[in-house]
Amino acid sequence: IEPDADWRDEVLRLARERDAVILAHNYQLPEIQDIAHHTGDSLALSRIAAASDASTIVFCGVHFMAETAKILAPHKTVLIPDERAGCSLADSITGDELRAWKAEHPGAVVVSYVNTTAEVKAETDICCTSSNAVDVVASIPADREVLFLPDQFLGAHVKRETGRENLHIWAGECHVHAGINGPELARRAADNPDADLFIHPECGCATSALYLAGEGTVPAEKVKILSTGDMITAARATSATSVLVATEIGMLHQLRRAAPEIDFRAVNDRASCRYMKMITPTALLRGLREGKDEVHVDPGTAERARGAVQRMIEIGQ
Ligand code: 13P
Ligand code: SF4
Repeated sequence: IEPDADWRDEVLRLARERDAVILAHNYQLPEIQDIAHHTGDSLALSRIAAASDASTIVFCGVHFMAETAKILAPHKTVLIPDERAGCSLADSITGDELRAWKAEHPGAVVVSYVNTTAEVKAETDICCTSSNAVDVVASIPADREVLFLPDQFLGAHVKRETGRENLHIWAGECHVHAGINGPELARRAADNPDADLFIHPECGCATSALYLAGEGTVPAEKVKILSTGDMITAARATSATSVLVATEIGMLHQLRRAAPEIDFRAVNDRASCRYMKMITPTALLRGLREGKDEVHVDPGTAERARGAVQRMIEIGQ
């Protein structure tokens, strides 16, 4: 299917017919981002899903995001255009593994990144996203041990920012962000000495970016560790004329829309998430026509996960 004017009209007509709101993550294909009613990062989309009065949510993103919407809005119909859109980071810890880890640290507060399955969220005290992870951990009394999972790079970022020693970090990673590495970033920064660096905290190169700033290779104020939503805010605020972006390449579309005068370049232009890209124009149209794929979360699991997800959307408002 070509994402042309007929496709657009039909998608929007079907959405109206189903009383559906279409949400798209910043890593979606440009044509999906452009047709969505709302585009944003995982925290913003969760908040919109919780607040929306549409009876159906069509989530153009990956499965854990659609599951999170269902946990927050159990009475709504939640559709994902292709349920095979998984996440390598969410797959890096299971409910059993988390239960065993908790048993080793009785009394610890469990903070899970939103990139987890509903079963893992059900074992969690507070969820977070990359835009409020530091605030979430800072809200926990300093004398309580914290188990932070599953992303080791985001965990390292939170540990640096909070200075917290009693934070234990699970060794998971996202294959897309882990692949954006330090030597690559150093090379690109040396070739573009005037560029700002926008780095997602899931990246393998986040520590290297701070190292480059520490040794003076890049001025410290040019290095920004940001969630995808915060990158858009930073793009509107910066005086730089070029920006190197370390995250999934779908992000470039919203950045270029937000600040067309800035030259945005990917640190690694092969950093594409194949799961995010499963949501094609064809899949979205089919999903709206057929009411597929419907996302179900076991009601008991959803009930146990809801408090942790609700705390997530409340912190850092
Ligand atoms: P944010 O939308 O929170 O920046 O997360 C990025 C991500 O990897 C989601 O899959
Ligand atoms: Fe998961 Fe990484 Fe893809 Fe985000 S980019 S959905 S963390 S695999």
